[in-house]
Amino acid sequence: MDWIAIVLRWTHIGTAIVLVGGTCFLRFVLAPAAAQLPDEHHAKLKELVMKTWKKFVHGGIALFLISGLYNYLVVQIPLHKGDKLYHPLVGTKILLSLGIFFIASALVGRSKTFEGMRRNSKRWQSVILLMAVVVVGISGFVKVRGVPAKAIAPSEVQTVAR
Ligand code: HEM
Repeated sequence: MDWIAIVLRWTHIGTAIVLVGGTCFLRFVLAPAAAQLPDEHHAKLKELVMKTWKKFVHGGIALFLISGLYNYLVVQIPLHKGDKLYHPLVGTKILLSLGIFFIASALVGRSKTFEGMRRNSKRWQSVILLMAVVVVGISGFVKVRGVPAKAIAPSEVQTVAR
């Protein structure tokens, strides 16, 4: 049994739960509640929340990249040789994920360039969530689809069955 693959898969799914769930909480629970506060308190609360959330975002991106790249390069590529649909789908998912990482980092960062995005943080959090729906949708699809019989060489059937 490949314990590294199992632990990294748990890590990948756990990170998705925390980061996508956390963004959902920020967008639909905390932001509307904080908007009721006076401007000064609202700004302070936002600053404090983002200071802590930043650690989750940066740590989560690192965990996604480590677990996702291991899963793709070491586990899935050998399983999906000759599979013409898998790689474009996972490639699209990886590009969308990089887009999400960029927006999420801009929202928790301090760079003046992205000040405008931070002022519209609710809109950008919604964009992140929409992209995350597509990313999780693609991930679920390729997982349930499995390895098409054509992509499995007879000599590999034993390995795939495991
Ligand atoms: C926003 C970021 C991401 C989210 C929300 C996400 C979510 C998920 C989810 C829910 C799964 C299904 C896990 C399972 O059922 O075992 C998955 C699988 C996977 N993810 Fe990600 N992921 C993200 C980023 C990445 C990145 C950056 C990579 C690669 C660099 C990656 C590579 C993979 C691979 C290879 C699989 C396995 C697909 C298969 O079963 O064939 N993911 N991801």
